[in-house]
Amino acid sequence: MAKLAVPLLLLLFFQSLISSQASLPLQTTIQKDRSTSQYVITAHLQTPLKLTNFLLDLGSTYTWVNCDDYTSSTYQHVPCNSSIASLLGHYACLDLCNSPPSPNCGNNSFLFLPDNPIKPVDYRKVNGLNTALIDPFALPNAQGYLTLINNFIFSCARTGFLKGLAKGVTGLAALGGPYNFLPGIDLSKSLVYTPLLLNPLGKDSEPDKPLLSSEYHIGLTSIKVNGKMVALNKTLLAIDGEKGSGGTKISTVVPYTKLQSSIYKAFILAFLKEAASPAFNLTTTKPVKPFSVCYPASAVKNTQVGPAVPIIDLVFG
Ligand SMILES: *[C@@H]1O[C@H](CO)[C@@H](O)[C@H](O)[C@H]1NC(C)=O
Ligand SMILES: *[C@@H]1O[C@H](CO)[C@@H](O)[C@H](O)[C@H]1NC(C)=O
Ligand SMILES: *[C@@H]1O[C@H](CO)[C@@H](O)[C@H](O)[C@H]1NC(C)=O
Ligand SMILES: *[C@@H]1O[C@H](CO)[C@@H](O)[C@H](O)[C@H]1NC(C)=O
Repeated sequence: MAKLAVPLLLLLFFQSLISSQASLPLQTTIQKDRSTSQYVITAHLQTPLKLTNFLLDLGSTYTWVNCDDYTSSTYQHVPCNSSIASLLGHYACLDLCNSPPSPNCGNNSFLFLPDNPIKPVDYRKVNGLNTALIDPFALPNAQGYLTLINNFIFSCARTGFLKGLAKGVTGLAALGGPYNFLPGIDLSKSLVYTPLLLNPLGKDSEPDKPLLSSEYHIGLTSIKVNGKMVALNKTLLAIDGEKGSGGTKISTVVPYTKLQSSIYKAFILAFLKEAASPAFNLTTTKPVKPFSVCYPASAVKNTQVGPAVPIIDLVFG
């Protein structure tokens, strides 16, 4: 799966849950830094908005930005006794800060303990506990319009946190922590995922030496066309650990979905029936190999969510 991490993976933020301003997911490209092999994403932060490069880390808990170099007219600290602070969990509180007010310094400010996953921060030399900040954050939505999230919560960090990070990176985008954007909203609860599975009897196995497959599979359990279950032999969908057969492979190199022949037949029957129904009124045209059923593109109506064709659901678990 290492090859999946190419420059154009989409990072989706579930904007609809964050604010009512827009309902489309936000997206950004992932770029690989050549000299460090680190994945970097770009987002807009501060007021006025400034392009900021973040190291992307699926495993870290706190998203942070270097606040030694942070100028914004809108940033706010999170008061330790506020309801937001109690939802962020408890780390520590900066009761009194005697330096002039700045992103790093405020009285009664909630503190996080961020870290650098590449070169762990030596907390004896660099201030580990850092203020939580609330400030605008923006990314383009699926139509390319920059969409603002006014109350993005993240941690400040210091210049000392940047060791080992790709050139130009001034922060960390962490996806491993609680996805708390607003009080009471944990985005991870709304994420839907399916585990990747391995075939215990991969194709490099020998009669007396089973070898796990290097290919990944997903736990497909049924297929629906327009909400109706396709009548297929479900035994074929599960990996047969004794024979090494069956299962549903997930591939980034095969250009279209391939189905076992009996499943393909059952699927085609279900799709032909739904496509011919009055809702779609589609008639097949001369097929183009390798496909056996084709429709003229001109007969398919377009809607805001794509072409009006029967909906195919792949059902997991
Ligand atoms: C939090 O503490 C400050 C300072 O002690 C106080 O002025 C403020 O009213 C408190 N806010 C809440 C929500 O308790
Ligand atoms: C924090 O409060 C103290 C005492 O009220 C004050 O002297 C200091 O300037 C304040 N610090 C900030 C950063 O506002
Ligand atoms: C379903 O597929 C399995 C595995 O190939 C086979 O053993 C079984 O007989 C099939 N069942 C039906 C009803 O065709
Ligand atoms: C369905 O399509 C056929 C031609 O493909 C057309 O003659 C017919 O009027 C269409 N029916 C409806 C209900 O749109």
